[in-house]
Formats: sequence, C-alpha cells, structure tokens
Amino acid sequence: MAKKPAKPAGARVLKTRIKKKSGLKESSRRWLERHMNDPYVQRSKADGYRSRAAYKLIEIDERYHLLKPGMRVIDLGAAPGGWCQVAAARTGSTEADPQVIGIDYLEMDPVPGAPVLLMDFLDDDAPDRLAEALGGAPDLVLSDMAAPTTGHRRTDHIRTMHLCEVAADFAISVLKPGGHFLAKTFQGGTEAELLTRLKQNFRSVHHVKPPASRDESAELYLLAKDFKGRAEDNAEA
Ligand SMILES: C[S@@+](CC[C@H](N)C(=O)[O-])C[C@H]1O[C@@H](n2cnc3c(N)ncnc32)[C@H](O)[C@@H]1O
Repeated sequence: MAKKPAKPAGARVLKTRIKKKSGLKESSRRWLERHMNDPYVQRSKADGYRSRAAYKLIEIDERYHLLKPGMRVIDLGAAPGGWCQVAAARTGSTEADPQVIGIDYLEMDPVPGAPVLLMDFLDDDAPDRLAEALGGAPDLVLSDMAAPTTGHRRTDHIRTMHLCEVAADFAISVLKPGGHFLAKTFQGGTEAELLTRLKQNFRSVHHVKPPASRDESAELYLLAKDFKGRAEDNAEA
C-alpha cells in the first residue's frame, strides 16, 4: 500500500476553527472544521477539481497506470465530477468525441469531454444507455458510488457493497478483454463471493487505500486488472 504523506505538497497547515457556539450541531461543526482544514480540499480548489475524491483516482492511477490516451471509460457515481475530470484529461476525451461517460442520479455541472447520464445506475436500462452513449466497449469501469448515509454504519456498508457488486457484474458484462475495474468498497466488507468472481475474471485483484482516502474512513478500493474476457467472446476469437 502507498505510504500516506502527512499532507499534499503545497498544502496549508490546519488552522481554521469553528466556534462551539456557532449554532451548528456538534457533529456538523466537527465535519465542517475538518473539511475546511483538509489539505486535499484546499488543493482541489487550487487545482480546479470538483472534489477531493479526484486525488484518490490520481493516486491510484499513478501507482497502477490505468488511464491511457484513447481509452474508453465509464464512471459510475460521477457527481460532482472529480473522477470525470481526471479521466477526461488523461484519456484525451473531448466534447466532439467523448470517451468518458458518467452516470449519477444527482445533477452536476457538465465536465467537458465527459457527458453524464442523469439516472440511477440500478435502473434496468442503465447498462444499455451507458453502452449506447459510449459507442463501444469500455477499457475501464470506475465506480465511486456510495449509498446515501443513513447514520447506521452497517446499513450504509451493506448498501454500498451492493452497488459494488452490481458494478462488478456490469464491468464483467461490458469490459474489453484486458480492461480494468476499480470500485469503492469497505474494509472487511468485500464479500468472499465477489472476490472469487473477480479473481476468476481478472488476472489480478488488489485492495487499495490511496493516501487521499481518510485514515478514519473504512473506505477502500477494489482494483481488478486485466479482464480475461467473456467465454463467448473468447470462443469467437
Ligand atoms: C463519493 S460520490 C462520487 C465522487 C466522484 N467520484 C468525484 O470524484 O466527484 C458518490 C456518488 O455516487 C452516486 N450514486 C450512489 N448510488 C448511485 C446509483 N444507484 N446510481 C447513480 N449514482 C449513484 C451519488 O449520487 C454520489 O454522487
């Protein structure tokens, strides 16, 4: 696992405090204080990224070399668009010939070169709509989808794990041979069945905790590299 830097290069040191008498609920006050002092948040503003999450993909890509010019990419759970920005820049996707397609049920400002379908990925017609919009098989399926939090940690994990499993099935059904799948999961949450399925379909499977993923968060990424291809495609080859 990559060593976590104390803070990203060029970041400012933790300073802003929000008064306890601010009128905010204590949990909201602490969240806001942490957010305002987060060096990745400060850096994302300076670098023009929509989210601090952008650095998770950047760090994973720097270690595993997933994104290449000319690749086709699907980004599941795209809003507010940090991963779309990184994927569009690194694949060279343009508005005239988009190679990155995102999906989210939340509206977001458009990212040049990465059109986003405004719909639920769990809708029956989402896979066809994504394939149609991309106009060819993807080389990379990304999923940073997270279920809305209920406050009940176990329930939140189960819901996000479900999204990860559906994303994995989708990746296996659409990826080009040699393609990759990267998805958000939770520490200790990956079902043995899902891992087995990924190991059967990809040449290598890794758990990755990028430095930009907060230590205190149970979030983890599952990276399955080098898709072996579907039996029917291999039979035709
Ligand atoms: C952590 S955010 C993604 C951040 C994004 N990677 C970025 O860099 O800006 C997770 C997103 O998943 C989306 N999401 C969760 N479930 C979804 C579903 N069933 N269909 C589409 N989007 C979903 C949420 O709306 C949310 O915008």
